[in-house]
Amino acid sequence: MTETPSIVLGVTGSIAAYKSLELVGRLRRKGCKVTVIMTANACKLIGPASFEALSGNPVALELFPDSKPQNIEHISLAQLADVLAIVPASANFIAKAAAGLADDLLTTVALAVKAPVLFAPAMNVDMWENPVVRRNVKQMTALGWKMVEPETGRLACGTTGSGRLASLDRIESEILVSLGWRDDLKGLPLLITAGRTEEPWDPVRYISNRSSGRMGMALASAAARRGAKVTLISGPGDVPAPEVFKHIPVLTAAQMHQAVQRELPRNKALIMAAAVADYAPKNIASGKIKKKNDGDITLTLKRNPDIIQLASAKRKPGTLLVGFALETDNLVANAREKLIAKDLDLIVANPAKTLSGENIQAVIIDKRGGTIKLPAMPKPKLADLILDRVAKLTGAA
Ligand code: CTP
Repeated sequence: MTETPSIVLGVTGSIAAYKSLELVGRLRRKGCKVTVIMTANACKLIGPASFEALSGNPVALELFPDSKPQNIEHISLAQLADVLAIVPASANFIAKAAAGLADDLLTTVALAVKAPVLFAPAMNVDMWENPVVRRNVKQMTALGWKMVEPETGRLACGTTGSGRLASLDRIESEILVSLGWRDDLKGLPLLITAGRTEEPWDPVRYISNRSSGRMGMALASAAARRGAKVTLISGPGDVPAPEVFKHIPVLTAAQMHQAVQRELPRNKALIMAAAVADYAPKNIASGKIKKKNDGDITLTLKRNPDIIQLASAKRKPGTLLVGFALETDNLVANAREKLIAKDLDLIVANPAKTLSGENIQAVIIDKRGGTIKLPAMPKPKLADLILDRVAKLTGAA
């Protein structure tokens, strides 16, 4: 699988087809590429243009298109899929798939695909309880297709019973699990800081550092994907923020400090990946400072709050604190010193040369002295390793 997982979403002719529109958005927000295949009956219920707009991809409709607007054949669609999800799956589609028919694009892709296949049935209760449908579903699950069972409730036809499309939360989570993604942080409120802070000394100038924000954003993205309720406080950086529960953009260390103080009590853990400027100009000029002949000027800097240290002193019992340590020399010894001085649970030490790169070589140190030296790896991979530790230490996993 590439770093951007590819979901092929089959939409069939059930009234619940409109719910798949929201599913497309949810999957894209999790970082997936979504390609939609619609059956002819699905097109009678909802226009392909809506799926096209939401997925950002052409919708595949026909097995043998006269013109090839989407440039995708059934075999390449099957190869494209890291997961094929049929949402909603009508009784008709289920019957055809169970019989191994390939009389339209979606049934053909379903036969050709090697990736995991998942289907979420939605239909009238009498159809759902019909022995023929029960037999077909049983056959498909026996063959390894994953079924997201429909729910009991009020149905589109006005009756009440089983057959209502499963909740999008469940369907989304099953799709992500089929991709091999874990949801072991489900519901965990997690505060993450990312990016650098910028400390102004006049309206057009500031002091800062070279942090790209990649590590913090990778953490926020991986934690959200694993189900955590992420509050992200981020300063400027070179990469966009992922979709999270709550995002608070800030500029200066003082603003980040305030936001952390306010948000921490609602969270089980703080991961402080932001590169906070330790000093800020003491005075900020209200207008642009003009050159003065050839003379030098002096900028007086004042200490910024040590955000994680203050958070550590005020934390509610049981709140987990994870810091980073950026070092040019004596990586492990200096990081250990910071862990003790700031009373942290974990510290991720990394050499300054990885500051703005794609990869990172880190050492994870815990408060009992346990030290794991990791090889260089992409930042998203390290994010998952750190979150494995967070999951264990918070009792989420
Ligand atoms: N940190 C913080 N507030 C600051 C400075 C740093 O919360 N004012 C946090 C960082 O986000 C990181 C940890 O403290 O999680 C260590 O940051 P680092 O810059 O490596 O160390 P400093 O404590 O600033 O010490 P020094 O600059 O002397 O190495």
